[in-house]
Amino acid sequence: MSLVLKNISELVCSKGPYKNTKENMNDLNMLKDAYLIIEDDIIKEIGLMKDFKENSDANVIDCSDKTVTPGFIDSHTHLVFAGYRFDEYDWRLKGQTYKEIMEKGGGIINSVKPTRDASLDELVSLGKKRLDSLLSFGVTTVEVKSGYSLDYENEIKQLEAIKKLNEIHAVDLVPTFMGAHSVPNEYKGRTDEYIEFVIGMLKDVKEKNLAEFVDVFCEENVFSIEQSRKLLTKAKEFGFSLKIHADEIVSLGGAGLAAEIEATSADHLLKAKESDLLKMKEKNVVATVLPCTAFSLREEYANARFMVDNGLILSIATDYNPGSCHTESMALLIALSTLQMNLTIEEVLNAITINAAKAVARENKIGSIEIGKKADLLIHEGSSYRFIPYHIGVSTVETVIKNGKVVYRK
Ligand code: NIG
Ligand code: FE
Repeated sequence: MSLVLKNISELVCSKGPYKNTKENMNDLNMLKDAYLIIEDDIIKEIGLMKDFKENSDANVIDCSDKTVTPGFIDSHTHLVFAGYRFDEYDWRLKGQTYKEIMEKGGGIINSVKPTRDASLDELVSLGKKRLDSLLSFGVTTVEVKSGYSLDYENEIKQLEAIKKLNEIHAVDLVPTFMGAHSVPNEYKGRTDEYIEFVIGMLKDVKEKNLAEFVDVFCEENVFSIEQSRKLLTKAKEFGFSLKIHADEIVSLGGAGLAAEIEATSADHLLKAKESDLLKMKEKNVVATVLPCTAFSLREEYANARFMVDNGLILSIATDYNPGSCHTESMALLIALSTLQMNLTIEEVLNAITINAAKAVARENKIGSIEIGKKADLLIHEGSSYRFIPYHIGVSTVETVIKNGKVVYRK
């Protein structure tokens, strides 16, 4: 049976495979007064209402005075963990920095014991609640990293939780192995040995088909450029695609490394050198910026304006995690991206749809409303997409259609 959306005031189609110029980033390939037909889980037909033919067999949703966009894709999260860290947030409000807390033995390490102690079922049930919330913000696909266990058994458990959540939840999950998120206490002062341990896990993670991407926290006092290069080079040999937490706190050169090893994306990039960003452009590495993290840490935002103006493929994600950025609010992300990073709403919408699809290597299946693509769609309040940022900090998403079915209504 087909599902028809008619009288759509504005249909934001966007367009694959990705956007990488200031001009195409500002083009949403938008249709006014449009209709859309879904068959099973696929977009079958798109057109203008003047050409619409009624079909009595179809389910119809009237979208008068509504805007339809592709489902949002959150291309960077750490949503499977146990152990909230609101105490650290409070310390930061009282003046300590993320780096100071990390160097005193806090930070990521503080989520490790609770995550190791949690059962698979507990992680799944925590993850499920967080996915429900993301879905209510319009997220239909989300990348999720391991990296709060830092030992063999529990990193696998975290990846299994991601796999299980993908099976039981409407939102699609893209799994990333991030054993190299921090050095666990057992390996304190032996970072090279820990990197060897993580490299040793790659074979099993691959054989068990538990991850598509490998990621590393390349940062001063965490993993160096050399250690990150070693791990990612091995990961590539095993057939993983690559991501890297690059140049978040200090300017280490992670963005340049991402270009050198042809990562799919480099993420954070607050302190990335312009020359390294231009190398990323040459290699088509997606630049994923995380404005909610910069906001939460009271750091200067990544230079997203430079990225768009210089033809990088810009994606924007939440970075939802228990430490540096505990929010899944796409509404906050949109507010910060427009008001604080000086992006246009057209640029932001492309960055959280088609370019985010590219960041998770799914640009041929999702991220735009094109015939043959998966029917992952959002119906928003407001007769124009320009209403989305205008309703500041509030989600405009009224209905979420995932794989051709309504899975959320406000
Ligand atoms: O992307 N920077 C490293 N990893 C996470 C933070 C994780 C945490 O603080 O728990 C991030 O911001
Ligand atoms: Fe992160």
